[in-house]
Amino acid sequence: MTYALEFRGIVKRFGNLAANDHIDLAINSGEIHSIVGENGAGKTTLMNILYGLYQPDSGEMYIQGRRVEFKSPADSIRAGLGMVHQQFMLFPSFTVAENVIFGSEPSRYGLIDRRTAYKKIRELSEQYGLGLDPAVKVGNLPVGTRQKVEIVKTLYRKANILILDEPTAVLTPQERDGLFDILRSLTAQGKTVLFITHKLNEVMDVSTHATVLRNGRVTANLRTVDTNPEEITRNMVGRDVMLMVEKPPFMSGPEVLKVVDLLVKDEMGHERIKGMSLNIHGGEIVGIAGVAGNGQSELVEAIVGLRPVDGGEIFLNQVAISHTPLVDRRTEISYIPEDRTSVGSAVDARVTENLMMGFQTQPIISKNQFLQNAGILKFARQLIEQFGIKVSTASERMSNLSGGNMQKAIVARELTHGHPLLVADQPTRGVDIGSIEFIYQQLINYRSDGKAILLVSADLNEIMTLSDRILVLFEGKLAGEVDARTAQENTLGLMMTGAWIGSKNG
Ligand SMILES: Nc1ncnc2c1ncn2[C@@H]1O[C@H](COP(=O)(O)OP(=O)(O)OP(=O)(O)O)[C@@H](O)[C@H]1O
Ligand SMILES: [Mg+2]
Repeated sequence: MTYALEFRGIVKRFGNLAANDHIDLAINSGEIHSIVGENGAGKTTLMNILYGLYQPDSGEMYIQGRRVEFKSPADSIRAGLGMVHQQFMLFPSFTVAENVIFGSEPSRYGLIDRRTAYKKIRELSEQYGLGLDPAVKVGNLPVGTRQKVEIVKTLYRKANILILDEPTAVLTPQERDGLFDILRSLTAQGKTVLFITHKLNEVMDVSTHATVLRNGRVTANLRTVDTNPEEITRNMVGRDVMLMVEKPPFMSGPEVLKVVDLLVKDEMGHERIKGMSLNIHGGEIVGIAGVAGNGQSELVEAIVGLRPVDGGEIFLNQVAISHTPLVDRRTEISYIPEDRTSVGSAVDARVTENLMMGFQTQPIISKNQFLQNAGILKFARQLIEQFGIKVSTASERMSNLSGGNMQKAIVARELTHGHPLLVADQPTRGVDIGSIEFIYQQLINYRSDGKAILLVSADLNEIMTLSDRILVLFEGKLAGEVDARTAQENTLGLMMTGAWIGSKNG
């Protein structure tokens, strides 16, 4: 019997770190095969090898029983591989069709044959239930639809094996379900899917098989019908993880953040926050629940100073800060941004430099305006140790860190700042389950220190686990406020779709 894909003894080292350490893995056609494991376990590295972005130090790969060696993605695409990147590589000003054919235009006398391309895209879209219109501009599409453009792009190039590295991290629950339907329809028609996620319910829901990696090695090869999230977790982290936190009772301190009648517009001049008021006290975690795109980003950006306030006032410890520049606000606000690569870090800088951002005036970091290299290293190593950030050396480039470890570095820095207000936007995005548990405990400790936390998360369980109060945001307005101790998931769900207001008022 021939496997769709086989890895034999794949080894990939970076310095003295073995990111992939003799990986053997065989995958049949038609499988949706999850690859799971802790941050830094080697998942992305293995996928990058498969896609031809990296060459292995040793080991072999087989596709349909034939040995393959990929020097670049062009080679792997020719062999039937397709990768849906997490950072979408689409041109916003191009149409769907222009994006799809970019790099592989069907030519008739050397010209782009638009009609053939349109026809092909419509057929593929129909065949796999993508619902794409080739003529619309990608820049106007929601994230979930852009992802479908990435998928159709791989299908257009005749991909048989699709790689999706954390494709659900940025999707709403509805978009995620839509993606899963597409994956099932792909595999029903004989294609093979490799799927990376940190969410074990997704593993159980959509995949037929799961392979667990730990420290670059395969620790388990499971059929999802024969396993459960607990077993997968034990194979991933070597222990049980409950995701329950020890949360002391709420002790209200003085008001830290007060937002009054806030108005915020987006780049296009559309009002995204339409008169919103809220407050957060010391010792309190206020969670913002809502379907992505209802104004969460604009609210957060207005509070931290990344976006102008168009009306209303923001007070921090009784001082109006609505028009205070970002740099001055950041001495009082710790901020974990939603997008770790564009706002939270300098990816070309070293891990040490990223960790010390904002600590420049601390004696351990600088003396008489001279940076203390030994002190910086010591400080960075402390954070790396405390937060379990996987690095080969503290002075390596941030861009070499795995996605989840980059996130952990930002969380470590911002929690260590310990400012009176923490704005945490998707704090555990891309983080493995064991580290999520740790971060939850750190957030609770922050609260126990009497500080205020504004938590924004697409994960309703996260909101319900951590918050004292939950505010539901719908179309730029508060749709409701709930005490987290009595919050019901389905009520919150209704509020998030605007249905609850309707039923209450009429
Ligand atoms: N280009 C590189 N240079 C140096 N080290 C690297 C490079 N790419 C990856 N690594 C290291 O290899 C290890 C595995 O990284 P990889 O990105 O494969 O992890 P992952 O399983 O995808 O983790 P995550 O869940 O956080 O995305 C990490 O310790 C990472 O720092
Ligand atoms: Mg990864």
